[in-house]
Amino acid sequence: MIRIISDYSMKKLIAFNWKMYPKKAADIEGLLLAFDDANIDTDRYEIAIAPPAVYLPMIADIFYEVKADISLAMQNCAWQSEGALTGEISAEMGKNVGADYAIIGHSERRMHLGETDEVVNKKVKAAMGARLGVILCVGEPIEVRKQGIVVVKKYIKRQIDGALHAIEPSSYRGIELCIAYEPIWAIGTGKAATPEDAVEVIAFIRSILNTNYGIPTARILYGGSVNAKNVTLFVEHDGIDGALVGGASINKKELKSILKTLHS
Ligand code: 13P
Repeated sequence: MIRIISDYSMKKLIAFNWKMYPKKAADIEGLLLAFDDANIDTDRYEIAIAPPAVYLPMIADIFYEVKADISLAMQNCAWQSEGALTGEISAEMGKNVGADYAIIGHSERRMHLGETDEVVNKKVKAAMGARLGVILCVGEPIEVRKQGIVVVKKYIKRQIDGALHAIEPSSYRGIELCIAYEPIWAIGTGKAATPEDAVEVIAFIRSILNTNYGIPTARILYGGSVNAKNVTLFVEHDGIDGALVGGASINKKELKSILKTLHS
């Protein structure tokens, strides 16, 4: 699907990060059934699914067949377009099997797979080079949050500056950069940030992107324990441009309930 930024960036983006689930391809169809009678307000919302990369071609084929207006995202990409990098998957490869976006710098990869700001930066460049939209994840751990908002902002600024280091402003032309603010203490804990807390950081991110990078219109999402009960608090908030949903999106019932809140 070719994305024209002006069309899509006006919509709230609700992206479902399936992480390393489900184990079997057969379970994908069950999850996709949740979309069948969802009647999503596609004038307001763009929906994206980020499945494990092995399922991308299969889901892309299903979407193609049923003409689903749903975007696809990789959860990661290599920093090279091809090469001797056993086990890696490049942004081009993802793009060629139907991905529209790449999630880059998720905290689980930073924490458990050793991704530094430098690696994240190389991956952002690789994804943009392949003309994938980028969903860049940033977010502070609980120790940082406990030190107060000034320290949180400093932490987030370092992550953004690291991720966007030495990217020419012209590189953003025609390629969408979204940021997902995902405080680590809210991920998988059932303790979502309040919309007010989220907006405080999101507004700060918006100001950095505008002032330091000349990007005034990036969509900035919230992620961390978003579920059917709280999703509207985030996605209907004027200061928040959507949500990145993890655990709740690989639970059929919960996914269905979330989609119901996005109906037209
Ligand atoms: P949860 O929604 O499970 O907290 O995960 C959030 C997340 O990591 C999305 O990328």
